[in-house]
Amino acid sequence: MNFISIRLTTISPGLIVPFNVYIKVGNNFFHYLHENDEFDSTRLDRLRIKGVKKFHINSTDEIKYENFLGQQLENIHLNPETVKTSLALDVSENSADMILKDANNEKSYTLAKFSSDILQKVVANSDTILRGIVTQSRTGSTDLASRIQAHLINTVSISIKFADELKSNINLNAIGIAAFYHDSSFSQFSVQDQKLFFKDLKEMNAQELTIYKSHPEKSVSGLQDKSFADKEVLELIMTHEEKVSGGGFPRKLTKLTLSQEVLSLCAFYDREVTCLGKNPQEVLDAIMIEQVGNYNLDLLKKFKAFLKKYL
Ligand SMILES: [Fe+2]
Ligand SMILES: [Fe+2]
Repeated sequence: MNFISIRLTTISPGLIVPFNVYIKVGNNFFHYLHENDEFDSTRLDRLRIKGVKKFHINSTDEIKYENFLGQQLENIHLNPETVKTSLALDVSENSADMILKDANNEKSYTLAKFSSDILQKVVANSDTILRGIVTQSRTGSTDLASRIQAHLINTVSISIKFADELKSNINLNAIGIAAFYHDSSFSQFSVQDQKLFFKDLKEMNAQELTIYKSHPEKSVSGLQDKSFADKEVLELIMTHEEKVSGGGFPRKLTKLTLSQEVLSLCAFYDREVTCLGKNPQEVLDAIMIEQVGNYNLDLLKKFKAFLKKYL
């Protein structure tokens, strides 16, 4: 059984739960509340005292979960920023998790769409939420799958916020979904080859480069024939490693739309920090020198000014 997780911090006492609730103890899940039971304050306090931070619902209840999120969103403006951050982390972690397990399933795509929409609403009017998401998703990620999950979440949040600030005609929903999916083929690689996602391109040999450079196409391939997948999203996934210098891959393009260039830059920046473990400020300084030519200078300057405010 697969589970969707929800942070207790996002729950107000008195909530009637629209799904069965499970609590994880060790490696086991225990049925805690029935659908339509009340999450009263005594129950919430008891769980908090025991150190329980999350509860779980069965992923087959994902429609009920989406309805629940819809209701939460209606009143989102009433919540403090800490609750909004938790809500954004919940949806993006669940989306990235589903995508890494089963990228080409319509359920994963729908949840990514939903999450992208929520992230737009959550990060749009706040200067601190993006920082909160990025900081929390990077901490505690030790195994490779969790680190890729953190990288997907951060790339989504950073590219949505940056694209929004550019005040351009970028389709925020498409860039958000594409960011969720950009490295989803990670799960298709062997354990040995998965390590390439955490290796500097400069340190790869020819064979490793060939394997690694196949990942954008692999991320697109399973979605290509699906009617639910948007063409613009597929194109953005395919081009996320391209650079305007022609030095990117797989097609060595020299012309990118603003949307493609933004996703490529945000994914590049976050790979350096979250996957390669470099210091954010040092990465930003290096980008302004080493990536001139790979991205338009004007965009690099805007990216630097943007990140300084939020990270
Ligand atoms: Fe990538
Ligand atoms: Fe990436």
